Amino acid sequence: MQQEITTGERRLCSRLGLEGASAEHLLAAMRAGESSRSAVVLSPRAAADYEPPFACCHEPVPWLPPRVYLPKPGVKPTAHPDYAAGMYYCLDVSSCWESAPLSVVPAPGRSLDLCAAPGGKTMLMAARYLPHNHTANEVNPSRRGILKQNVEQCGLPHVTVCGLRPDQWARSGELFDLLLVDAPCSGQSLLAKGIRNPGCLSTSMVNGNAKRQKGILLSAVQCTAPGGYILYSTCTYDPEENEKVMAYILKRKPDWEAVEVPLLEGYRSHLVPFPAYRLLPEHGYGAGGFCCLLHRMPQS
Ligand SMILES: C[S@@+](CC[C@H](N)C(=O)[O-])C[C@H]1O[C@@H](n2cnc3c(N)ncnc32)[C@H](O)[C@@H]1O
Repeated sequence: MQQEITTGERRLCSRLGLEGASAEHLLAAMRAGESSRSAVVLSPRAAADYEPPFACCHEPVPWLPPRVYLPKPGVKPTAHPDYAAGMYYCLDVSSCWESAPLSVVPAPGRSLDLCAAPGGKTMLMAARYLPHNHTANEVNPSRRGILKQNVEQCGLPHVTVCGLRPDQWARSGELFDLLLVDAPCSGQSLLAKGIRNPGCLSTSMVNGNAKRQKGILLSAVQCTAPGGYILYSTCTYDPEENEKVMAYILKRKPDWEAVEVPLLEGYRSHLVPFPAYRLLPEHGYGAGGFCCLLHRMPQS
């Protein structure tokens, strides 16, 4: 018997402009909860010629960040002693996809991961760029503890772990060439991973998160050096927390633009005229997410 579509599901599909087979695919993935797909990113502990000690897929994935591997289905990378030895970090492949815009960002002098725990994006940064001055910030004390542990386990000596709120960073007067805002969100893609997330489709949850995301970004722009970048990402589908948040910032900050990411052209969002990208379960690379790269003009 076919399951009835809930109000939240209908509203989400309508906001995304999804109809017919595309809408059915997304809803089926959210109900089945089988869309997670694991990836591993090698840490600085792993030498340049290190190969993961388990079977990996060799499909060509142009946007896959450097030093990232896709284990074959059924492989459990956390079960191998190399994991405990900090040779690699495990995460969902959608997180790797969300970091693909860094492919067009020059190596930063100073970078800040504003919402860093448990550390996935910081690991992906470390794998992409030469060691540089990077701050991994997390406001939640217990999550900060996990972040610290992961940073130590994977041997990132050039990374400093902090716990300031975004508005405190904004007032600090410190400027960075690159900020990562992997924002707290309603986490609708957790459903597609099989993780319960009650209320994630409700208007109040989505609007509350959108408000918080705008606040975090308004602080982040104050910490960005002229010519610098903010990579915004979420693991939720709703445009209110994605394209609309980007449009809000671009409208208020005329010296900022959204940047094209050629590697992600096939994932471009049709909901806005500027470059923004969405991954859905139907793409086959995990539960999905959103990313958009913002650039502060150099002369501003
Ligand atoms: C999506 S998670 C970050 C995942 C992380 N970037 C990674 O790749 O492993 C969002 C983080 O933002 C933190 N957070 C929650 N509220 C926040 C706020 N108001 N400002 C900054 N960070 C916040 C949460 O504690 C959470 O750790």
